[in-house]
Amino acid sequence: QNPVFDTLVRPYGKAAIDEAAAIVADGWPVAVPTETVYGLAGDATSGQAIARIYAAKGRPSFNPLIVHVLSLDDAEKLAEFDSTALALAERFWPGPLTLVLPLRAGARIASLATAGLGTIALRSPVHPAMRGLLAATGRPLAAPSANASGLISPTRAEHVSASLGGSIKLIIDAGPTSLGLESTIVAISRGETRLLRPGPVTTEMLDIPLAPAGERGIEAPGQMSSHYAPSKQLRLDATERGEDEWLIGFGRVIGQSSLSPSGDLVEAASALFDRLHEAEAAPAQRIAVAPIPKEGLGIAINDRLARAAAPRGTC
Ligand code: TXA
Ligand code: MG
Repeated sequence: QNPVFDTLVRPYGKAAIDEAAAIVADGWPVAVPTETVYGLAGDATSGQAIARIYAAKGRPSFNPLIVHVLSLDDAEKLAEFDSTALALAERFWPGPLTLVLPLRAGARIASLATAGLGTIALRSPVHPAMRGLLAATGRPLAAPSANASGLISPTRAEHVSASLGGSIKLIIDAGPTSLGLESTIVAISRGETRLLRPGPVTTEMLDIPLAPAGERGIEAPGQMSSHYAPSKQLRLDATERGEDEWLIGFGRVIGQSSLSPSGDLVEAASALFDRLHEAEAAPAQRIAVAPIPKEGLGIAINDRLARAAAPRGTC
């Protein structure tokens, strides 16, 4: 179901960056080292590119991804920075600190990169390979760790080959990463700062008041408590439109909109959150979604739909 590639491994250098940038411009992800772990980087403005990251990783659910940028200037095009966020970015960027901030209205970003949330996770990395790729593509790059879903994060190109060889087009090899641990994630909202993932930037180094751990305190990586959830009732596996429903079609099921008229799962994944937001805004009181095959990327699509359909507070 997923395409099979003869995965190229290129030593880090200008030729490798140019080759990688061409692949990214074509909408495919590439593995590239950062100072923390190797990332699987794709164009964060392209839903198709993000869907292909998930397809390559075989991730069963869509979590929002960290979007990498060259500079604070570039980050400010995508998110709203308050004074706390500005101070942290100035102190720790470029480096292993990720900030979760309110998404800027009209920001040019694929909704699948943020999993449809109103926030975005941003980081400016220090590693020259990732910086080279950011400069060469001129795009924000979404990059989760470059490993198959459920496996440990890769700190060497060999780890990436072992996990994703055959599933991706290119790996840039710059040897072992210096930190070997994923970035610290801090969320800032309404003046409150929370640690979402401990990492190389410690709480001592942050040296700012953090909201007490608890229900909204530390969340394990990947264990997002915040999920996109429509306010309207959502019915799954619908083959026709019910009363007062907005039907989101797929393949042969025709609705008011469609995740993919041709039944393509990459296209469906990249359209998922946009179609849900559109259905939210429609006059119909309820939302229905056509059956999506439970295979490949369809597993992740069904996971998100099931969460969106669940009564509030159960996920
Ligand atoms: O070190 C790193 O951060 C590596 C390298 C490649 O840069 N990247 C990485 O990315 O670990 P990723 O996409 O696997 O991290 C995703 C995590 C999610 O599981 C979630 O915990 C958090 O980032 N996250 C992303 N967007 C979020 C959001 N809008 N709200 C809350 N948490 C978010
Ligand atoms: Mg990861």
